[in-house]
Amino acid sequence: MKRIKIYGAGGHSKVILDLAECLGHTITKVFDDFPEHTYLSNGSNLSDLSSDKENFFSDDDPMIIAIGNNQVRAALAKRIKARYEILVHPSATISQESTLGEGTVVNAGGIVQSGSTIGRHVIINTAALIDHDNKIGDFVHISPNVSLTGHVEIGEGTHIGAGASIIPMVKVGKWCTIGAGAVIIRDVPDFAVVVGNPGRIIKYNPME
Ligand SMILES: CC(C)(COP(=O)(O)OP(=O)(O)OC[C@H]1O[C@@H](n2cnc3c(N)ncnc32)[C@H](O)[C@@H]1OP(=O)(O)O)[C@@H](O)C(=O)NCCC(=O)NCCS
Repeated sequence: MKRIKIYGAGGHSKVILDLAECLGHTITKVFDDFPEHTYLSNGSNLSDLSSDKENFFSDDDPMIIAIGNNQVRAALAKRIKARYEILVHPSATISQESTLGEGTVVNAGGIVQSGSTIGRHVIINTAALIDHDNKIGDFVHISPNVSLTGHVEIGEGTHIGAGASIIPMVKVGKWCTIGAGAVIIRDVPDFAVVVGNPGRIIKYNPME
């Protein structure tokens, strides 16, 4: 059991809050840059928690950046030097032969198999499967029910949409978007937006 604070109070944060509480951690503070748009301002039972930035950073309790947007999460993580926690839901399965980077969360039913390396501030969402020998870059979001087979590589900041599947040995570049339900059978270049089965590039995300 630990004391944990959470940066971000939007929809994704609700899931992270639930996950941390499920693990028996004490949530000491929640902060959001735009509190008027968050559940904190919306009759939440968290209204007693701090949303004051100075107060939020006044201790060194470990924190999680609970923001689903990969670019925003990356920008914050690069700027804020802090101790970051790793949260793994009790129903998730993580091989002892795999590693998770700081700030990463694995939601209910997530699976990470042997030999996989998961970067920092990654979201492995509900029931997502990362099979053996995958390499997942920093700030990636693997959405619910995604299936990554063996030896798949995902570059920094890429978002894999819900239910997408990627066949073995495929490399997806950085800051890509893979559409919900896509089936990826060949390598994907950086910044590409890919949809369908088999996956096809429909456009490119703006470069950083
Ligand atoms: C891929 C995606 C990002 C594209 O969004 P967009 O940029 O707004 O694109 P549009 O909705 O304008 O669609 C562009 C074209 O791609 C098609 N398309 C979009 N998403 C698609 C998908 N998932 N599968 C198949 N085709 C898709 C559209 O039908 C459209 O085709 P058209 O030009 O022939 O009409 C989005 O549709 C998507 O799938 N996001 C994943 C969301 C998700 O899984 N979130 C998980 C949260 S936990």
